[in-house]
Amino acid sequence: MPKLVDTGRKVLFSDEILQNPYPTYTRLHEEGPLHYIDVGGKWAVWSIFSHAECASIAKDPQLSAKRAKQMLLSLPLSRQAEFSELARMLSLWLIFMDPPEHTRLRKLLNKGFSPAVVESLRPQVEIIVDQMLEAVEHGKEVELMGEFANPLPVRIILEMLGIPQELRDTFVNWSRAIAVFRGNPNRTVEDARAAQDALIQLTEFFRQTVTERRRHKGNDLISLLIDIEEEGDVLTEEELYAQCIALLFAGHETTRNLIGNGMYTLLQHPEETAELRDQPELIRSAVEELLRYESPVQFTARVLKEEIEICGQRIPKAWTVLCMLGAANRDPRQFENPNQLNLKRLNNQHLAFGAGMHFCIGAPLARLEGQVAILKLVQRFPKIKLVGARPEWASTFGLRGLMSLPVIM
Ligand code: HEM
Repeated sequence: MPKLVDTGRKVLFSDEILQNPYPTYTRLHEEGPLHYIDVGGKWAVWSIFSHAECASIAKDPQLSAKRAKQMLLSLPLSRQAEFSELARMLSLWLIFMDPPEHTRLRKLLNKGFSPAVVESLRPQVEIIVDQMLEAVEHGKEVELMGEFANPLPVRIILEMLGIPQELRDTFVNWSRAIAVFRGNPNRTVEDARAAQDALIQLTEFFRQTVTERRRHKGNDLISLLIDIEEEGDVLTEEELYAQCIALLFAGHETTRNLIGNGMYTLLQHPEETAELRDQPELIRSAVEELLRYESPVQFTARVLKEEIEICGQRIPKAWTVLCMLGAANRDPRQFENPNQLNLKRLNNQHLAFGAGMHFCIGAPLARLEGQVAILKLVQRFPKIKLVGARPEWASTFGLRGLMSLPVIM
């Protein structure tokens, strides 16, 4: 086993860096592609900052995506056993599976997110966005996260799952509890407790919903998952509920931040925003650049199946490594002027949706929602501007998003 130094640990997940991680990313890029990062308690992890290495690690079969148990490591050892149910429930999510289970399920689930299926949702997304913006008066002060960026993605994913909109607030609260646990590398016992309770309640909700839906299947994602479960040995009943929860969670917690982070970035760049307003055909490349510039998912993790060498460092079997997607998206070796926003950026190979077999299944949907929401906001409200001091970022480092975004419309 190689000797690992735990001196030279670097602090990254501090409140101060959270408010603006980019100067630190720039400095760490200059120092090297791999850093040993403190994640609270006694725990530190090797973290990859380089774009090329993050992309190749995400595709490397020597690394496993099964890492739900590792999420408990920042909790005191004596308390970890209380959350074995939390780790077990999360381990059923597609994102935490390895082949061959992952391959079989992903292939079937792809049907629900094909470009054709997602494109057919465009008119519906446009109608929902128009309805939400119709009620907003020009010149009025609005908290954009609460009024728009938060409710839109959850509304759409609930429609796709065929769940009544009245339950939206309950879902948002459950989803938040899971996000605080997942997004914080130095998670606490309280975070774990809230996430475990939320997952238990969500599982119970989907147990009942699936029973009812079996009798009246429709054209929704739950019915697709039921078909997959009924067709063969790909999904157990419990795994079926777990995918419903994962889709609800992923459909909401990330896309809200694409819209929120994207709008905040545009409001700080009025010239680029004016250009987008005048040339709406730029919206596709603009959304890709916003995903790169303020990535909603700042890192993901993998566990080593074998001892391997990463960026010249031998790392032992069973250790976790972090792929710092948000930092990789500012890597000067990959992007020209990485800290500059360029809505026309060509060959934008950002890693905001990951890479390899776990590449985000919801990427076409997120792109659609982001394009429609952001373009309609900038076109309909040409005078939109930020209010007050800098808005505050939520403490979920991994899921980067604003607590609130006050604007004048
Ligand atoms: C801007 C919005 C989004 C971002 C930035 C994002 C980001 C990501 C990333 C980085 C991964 C890969 C993680 C890894 O390799 O460990 C991922 C996977 C995944 N995402 Fe997203 N996501 C977004 C929206 C969505 C939406 C709308 C859905 C579904 C409704 C979704 C569902 C999933 C699922 C199920 C996976 C796991 C795929 C697999 O393991 O094969 N995501 N996402």
